[in-house]
Amino acid sequence: MTASDESTDLRPRTLSLPPTGHGYGGGEGGPSDVRPLRQEKYELFGPACADALALFWYRWVTGHQISFLLWRLLGDALERCSHRAPTRLEREAMAACVDGYSTMLLYSATVPRDLYHAHIRERMALQHPAFSGAWAPDYRPLRPLFRSRLPWQGDPSCAALREAIGLNHMTHARIADRLVPDGQSLLQKHSGRAGISREKEDLFDDFFMTVRRPVSRSALTDQLNTRIAGITADLDGNGLYPLVDGEHHAVVPDPPDPSEEALHRLAANVLLSTHRAARLCADAENSLQEAHL
Ligand code: HEM
Repeated sequence: MTASDESTDLRPRTLSLPPTGHGYGGGEGGPSDVRPLRQEKYELFGPACADALALFWYRWVTGHQISFLLWRLLGDALERCSHRAPTRLEREAMAACVDGYSTMLLYSATVPRDLYHAHIRERMALQHPAFSGAWAPDYRPLRPLFRSRLPWQGDPSCAALREAIGLNHMTHARIADRLVPDGQSLLQKHSGRAGISREKEDLFDDFFMTVRRPVSRSALTDQLNTRIAGITADLDGNGLYPLVDGEHHAVVPDPPDPSEEALHRLAANVLLSTHRAARLCADAENSLQEAHL
């Protein structure tokens, strides 16, 4: 497939992940190669978009799937550190995964608000009236980290990780406010249906075209490679904020307010940031494997 075919191929693909809490299947293979980035930069303000619904549906599903992949890698690193503090490489890889997830929040949320309400939110509400990010299976093991409850998180060596988590909370709040200014998530509107169950996790996976089955570590990297290539082609052709109904629906204005410079940096570095997370996770794992040789 050529680069121009890829940029017009806005069809999300099925993602295969190991069930949460289960190891990898399919042999002992390590992380395998994280493919080099084809390009780092893209226009923030892109041209008019031919099929906005297809583009933003692709971004919503693919942005979530890349988040799931990064969450899984982050969860693997946390599991390895359940009885010890992380090494320097692991701390860097964890902070990079959190930043990669933050850029995916932003990328997914580039959808114009009207289109989000008419199509994406509507589809989520049809899947379940209280549909929520809180049902994401791979986020479950990360909750203590995002709530700063792990014993080693307060150490001065974890400053960059703490900063990445702070920026992630700010990004989530920002995109929630942009897409749903009344502040009410579907879950909050249906407070009678609180609680997480296997059925809700399955509905969540199903919505984001995610199946649970034994997957090798290298197959996980391959799926990340393919999706990074897909969003590279998208951003190359469409820019981060394409023109929809005569407007660029920017999540962060350019130039940004001084208080929003960190968010703006995320917007300008979607590709670098996701790629860096994949690469640092592979480096951290390879160095642990070498240490055990
Ligand atoms: C880009 C897409 C999004 C992703 C990946 C995402 C992810 C998540 C995750 C993982 C949680 C669980 C946090 C925890 O349990 O500590 C969560 C909760 C929440 N999110 Fe998001 N979120 C997204 C978009 C939104 C939007 C657009 C809103 C606007 C209302 C929103 C509002 C909330 C709220 C209020 C919660 C708390 C639980 C609930 O009421 O559902 N999020 N989100």
